[in-house]
Amino acid sequence: VRFLIDAILESILTEFLRSRMTSNSLRHVSVLLEEILQIADPRSGETWIDATCGAGGHARRIAERVAPNGQLIAIDQDAEILAAVADRFEGLAVRRYHANFDQLSAVLEVAEIDKVDGLLADLGFCSDQMDAASRGLSFQQDGPLDMRLDQSQGATAADLLAREEEEELARIFKEYGEERFARKVARRIAEQREIEPILTTHQLANLVRRSVPRDSGSRIDPATRVFQGLRIAVNDELGCLERLLAELPRRLKANGRVAIISFHSLEDRLVKQAFQNQDIWETLTRKPIVPSDDEMRQNPRSRSAKLRIAKRK
Ligand SMILES: C[S@@+](CC[C@H](N)C(=O)[O-])C[C@H]1O[C@@H](n2cnc3c(N)ncnc32)[C@H](O)[C@@H]1O
Repeated sequence: VRFLIDAILESILTEFLRSRMTSNSLRHVSVLLEEILQIADPRSGETWIDATCGAGGHARRIAERVAPNGQLIAIDQDAEILAAVADRFEGLAVRRYHANFDQLSAVLEVAEIDKVDGLLADLGFCSDQMDAASRGLSFQQDGPLDMRLDQSQGATAADLLAREEEEELARIFKEYGEERFARKVARRIAEQREIEPILTTHQLANLVRRSVPRDSGSRIDPATRVFQGLRIAVNDELGCLERLLAELPRRLKANGRVAIISFHSLEDRLVKQAFQNQDIWETLTRKPIVPSDDEMRQNPRSRSAKLRIAKRK
């Protein structure tokens, strides 16, 4: 019996350790990295913020650039990934903060910094978060419908599906997911939740597939847009970006640079509009920079990336 208990405990421990993120297990590939370094040009001695540290690829290179006397403030709302990347910054002046970037001023106050020389925001989520079934961001694997990037607070996707009015769900799918059949999907959800709660990614994906006619010729799964819409709503992605953009002018020194990578048109529109204010910004990218064919081939996830960079006047 003792032997059996030991074997069970060991297998539980092995499974637990395997499921934890470590910096070696992170697979995310940074997007448009050289372009950011070249145009936003972090320099030795400067103070920078990486508002979306993630797997730390951009952060590490920026921290190397600002060394030896500069520093980097690395923010992420995902405590787990922020803990996992710690050893990527060994020997570099990097301080990590678990926070939403819409709390930029609060973070800077704790860090005792008034203004910075540069900020990067690489929006959305890392491949590692997308691939973790337990986060429910992807319908490729079955998992709980969570979708929160900050798993320490807030309502999950399953909560939204259970409590929002049918009209509100339709708005989320239409506005944030750009789903043509938003009303149909919302109606199906409202009917289905009377029978049983919708709790898993496969439950939702199958329901969407049954509600939406498959686009002939399109290789995109019909569930893609609904999942995008829900994720944006769960994380209030557009609200957070708006608040960051509003706060930035106060927190950048004159000639401070800001680089923002967005992954869908709703985000890019907000960034473009903010940078149009010529009293505040000089844009360093006339048009958004997109990844080269080579980068897209090597990292298909970069396909929808758009980079805009501006300088504080
Ligand atoms: C695309 S990944 C960043 C990848 C990173 N640049 C790299 O090279 O490894 C985006 C990261 O931003 C974080 N994030 C997204 N929205 C955020 C927000 N509002 N506040 C703080 N972190 C956020 C996500 O948790 C995720 O880790």
